[in-house]
Amino acid sequence: MKILVTGANRGLGLELTKLFLKEGHEVAAGMRANSNSDALDSLKKEYSNRLKIIQLDMEDESTMAHSADLIKSQWGSLDVIINNAGILLGRNRKFNELDLEELITSFKVNTFGPMMLIKHLAGLMEGGESPMIINITSEAANDLSGRDYPYSLSKAALNMYSIKLNNHLKEAGIRVLAVHPGWIRTDMGGQNAPGAPETTARNILDIIEGRIKIDDDLVFISHTGIGL
Ligand SMILES: NC(=O)c1ccc[n+]([C@@H]2O[C@H](COP(=O)([O-])OP(=O)(O)OC[C@H]3O[C@@H](n4cnc5c(N)ncnc54)[C@H](OP(=O)(O)O)[C@@H]3O)[C@@H](O)[C@H]2O)c1
Repeated sequence: MKILVTGANRGLGLELTKLFLKEGHEVAAGMRANSNSDALDSLKKEYSNRLKIIQLDMEDESTMAHSADLIKSQWGSLDVIINNAGILLGRNRKFNELDLEELITSFKVNTFGPMMLIKHLAGLMEGGESPMIINITSEAANDLSGRDYPYSLSKAALNMYSIKLNNHLKEAGIRVLAVHPGWIRTDMGGQNAPGAPETTARNILDIIEGRIKIDDDLVFISHTGIGL
């Protein structure tokens, strides 16, 4: 399959990229222009034919349009999009301490970026192999506590977008899921997190390849396939 992963240079995105390549898929690995690319560069040495490293900033729509042009000209089609890039800002601010820039940046990266990327790429997925869009979300979308406003609201909006989009893209045979990856050991999750990103990546591969079956009416799920 031809798979695009955003935020592929570290954390869960890097684990997904490694696993997809190991299992024989082709990967377009999106990362920001000035971020550390050491891990992807070394994968490129091993998988030069099946890995494309593409410049993709979830706050910059022009990089998405450019990526779509590149994928169209080099691959012709796309089977899976994984909107993995995410940002966690202003965790402990109460409602009366909120910072507008943190809110805006959170929505840009976690919500609007995935929406704009899909706008540019979904057209390449029609007729693809088991086409699927996975928006990596968080159970924080359901968090009713008085903290994490920027993150939980931006992920809640991503979930609602995923539900709407799934209804709409059903006709084209494209499945849309919003997948919570679990609390995992990455820069965002911290080293005390109970989960390994490798396990989550394996489950996401199983979802894509149909070994974990997702009920037709579900959109917001855990990486294990359970509805949230
Ligand atoms: N870790 C957890 O416990 C946990 C729990 C629930 C949900 N999630 C979700 O899982 C996904 C992956 O998280 P993670 O734990 O792997 O986080 P991470 O280790 O902090 O990695 C985040 C990734 O997103 C990229 N990114 C951030 N802003 C970007 C932008 N504007 N454009 C392009 N890429 C950008 C980062 O790239 P740079 O190197 O350029 O910054 C990095 O590759 C996120 O959507 C997150 O919300 C994680």
